Order: sequence, then C-alpha cells, then structure tokens
Amino acid sequence: MSAEHPQKNGLLISFEGSEGSGKTTQIRCLSARLEDAGYDVLITREPGGTEIGEQVRHILKHADSGRGMTPETELLLFAAARAQLVREVIMPALDAGRIILCDRYLDSTTVYQGVARSLSEEPVTVINRFAVGPLMPDWTIILDLPPEVGLQRVRARGNDLPDRMEEESIEFYRAVREGYLLLADDLPDRYSVFDSEQPVELIEDEIWEEMQERYFRRD
Ligand code: TYD
Repeated sequence: MSAEHPQKNGLLISFEGSEGSGKTTQIRCLSARLEDAGYDVLITREPGGTEIGEQVRHILKHADSGRGMTPETELLLFAAARAQLVREVIMPALDAGRIILCDRYLDSTTVYQGVARSLSEEPVTVINRFAVGPLMPDWTIILDLPPEVGLQRVRARGNDLPDRMEEESIEFYRAVREGYLLLADDLPDRYSVFDSEQPVELIEDEIWEEMQERYFRRD
C-alpha cells in the first residue's frame, strides 16, 4: 500500500487483547483518523457481524443452552462464525480496497480456546486456517494489560450482566495474556504490543505512528 494508491489491495488489521483492554475504543480512534485521512474503513466484531454470526454469538455468550458447552464445541462455534464473516463481509470489503479493522480475529481462538482452554495446538491451527482461508491479518495490534485491571474496567462499566466468557477465573485471563505475548514474541513482524494501562490518547498516538511507519511512509 502506498500513499498514491492507499487502498489498492485493502488491508486487514486485527485488534486483540483480554477483557477490558480497550480494543473497541482504539478501533474507533484509528477508524476516525483513517477516515479523516480519506480512507474507506470497515469495522467488524467477533463473534458476530453476520446474521449467522450473531446467532452463534448468542449461543456462545448468553444462551442457557451454552452453559454445558465443551471446549471443542466452543472452538468450532467461534470458527464457524468467523468463516461466515470472512466470506460474507471481509473478502468483499478487501476486494473493494477497504481497510478492515477487526475487533478480534483468529488469534482470539488460538489464545482463548487453544491456550486458556488447553485444546491441542494442531487442531486449533488447522480449524483456524480452514475458517479464514487465505485471509491472514496484515497487522495485529495487541492491547496488553494485567487481567486484574481489565476485569476491574469491565465491572466498572456495569452496563451488562457478565456473559459466559466473563465468568472465568483470573488464571484463565492470565493464560490469555501470556498466550498473546507468546504469539507476539514468535512473530514480531505481524504483531505489535501496546501497553494498555497508558492513557487512551497516548495509545492512540502510538498506534497511529506505527500505522504510518508500516503503511504510509514506505515509498
Ligand atoms: P465480547 O463481548 O465481544 O467482548 P470483548 O470486548 O472482550 O471482545 O466477547 C467476546 C468473548 O469471546 C471474549 O470473552 C473473548 C471470547 N472469544 C473467544 O474465546 N474465542 C474467539 O475466537 C473469539 C473471537 C472470542
């Protein structure tokens, strides 16, 4: 992507992090900056973003029938919602040259179902790849903070009943955090980690700065 042809091929950027890490806020900030600069932006969230995906979201998060869900079922449901989102929404948007900001993508499955729920790495990788097909993120922004701080933020919001995924132990969210940091260590080109305990505006500036370096200052 160059300044002259900024959206020739589109761009897929995913945001990852544990509960309360500020993904939604930072996505809004980056989207506003990109739109101000003239880019065409699409925001997606997971699970959801399609009619099928929203129904799957309900089962995963709120339905009574979700209570006895096994980790294997959970993995397949997250992957199913994503498979639909990729083909129904993300592929056409990329083809149209848009910048897509994903509020979670396949790394959430790697970390929540693979690491925190201790499912074996191999089937998680295979199922993840099958669900997204060729669409790996160009860049993944990890918002990192201690789980205690994130959960405190979620509770302070107090606008929703805790959903099934928010009722896990602190160890679960510690594993999630570690899982993300390990991914970033393994593949520093694809991931950038931002300290999400900093003020919102500072994180916003850091993300924007890196976005410019990666995509707007190359040629
Ligand atoms: P959501 O309400 O969208 O919250 P958040 O602001 O934390 O993204 O809830 C999504 C929940 O589902 C969250 O607890 C993470 C979890 N999740 C997985 O376990 N695996 C996945 O593949 C995805 C996409 C989400």
